[in-house]
Amino acid sequence: MGLFEVSSVEETWALAEKFAATLKRGDIVCLEGDLGAGKTTFTQGLAAALKVKGRVTSPTFCIVQEHFGKDDGDFMLVHMDLYRLEGEEDVLSIGWEDYLERGAVLVVEWPERAGSLIPSTAKHVVFRHPEANEDSQCRRITFS
Ligand SMILES: Nc1ncnc2c1ncn2[C@@H]1O[C@H](COP(=O)(O)OP(=O)(O)OP(=O)(O)O)[C@@H](O)[C@H]1O
Ligand SMILES: [Mg+2]
Repeated sequence: MGLFEVSSVEETWALAEKFAATLKRGDIVCLEGDLGAGKTTFTQGLAAALKVKGRVTSPTFCIVQEHFGKDDGDFMLVHMDLYRLEGEEDVLSIGWEDYLERGAVLVVEWPERAGSLIPSTAKHVVFRHPEANEDSQCRRITFS
């Protein structure tokens, strides 16, 4: 999908909704970028497009949040923030393999912590903050 420049939270949500249309069960989506770059905001847009019930908040303190969406509610979106975890052992301990077996879509902030658990087939979305001379709401979002 390439590189996009957005200039507001609403544009990030709109981009996420387009990306959501490409998702299928079992997909792993790695959200990469610094603190506050927009990973959780993007996940809110994904959740809206997938008709997830309930609010999407940062899972920083509980690490993983399960959401159920699509019209029949049988679509599971699992939102993880691995920032506070040390490595693969920790990631396995929060049910990583179980979620994959259940066909969830895994959306992962700070995927670096998961090391080799991230398959080569994973989708990557990279978020960049604005440059010093740009508006604070500007973000660069790259899909690969
Ligand atoms: N275009 C934009 N897209 C996304 N967020 C934006 C944008 N412009 C401003 N923001 C603001 O930047 C912040 C992004 O925070 P968010 O929690 O999404 O980041 P994060 O990458 O998940 O950070 P963390 O690594 O701490 O979890 C929010 O306060 C949001 O309102
Ligand atoms: Mg976040």
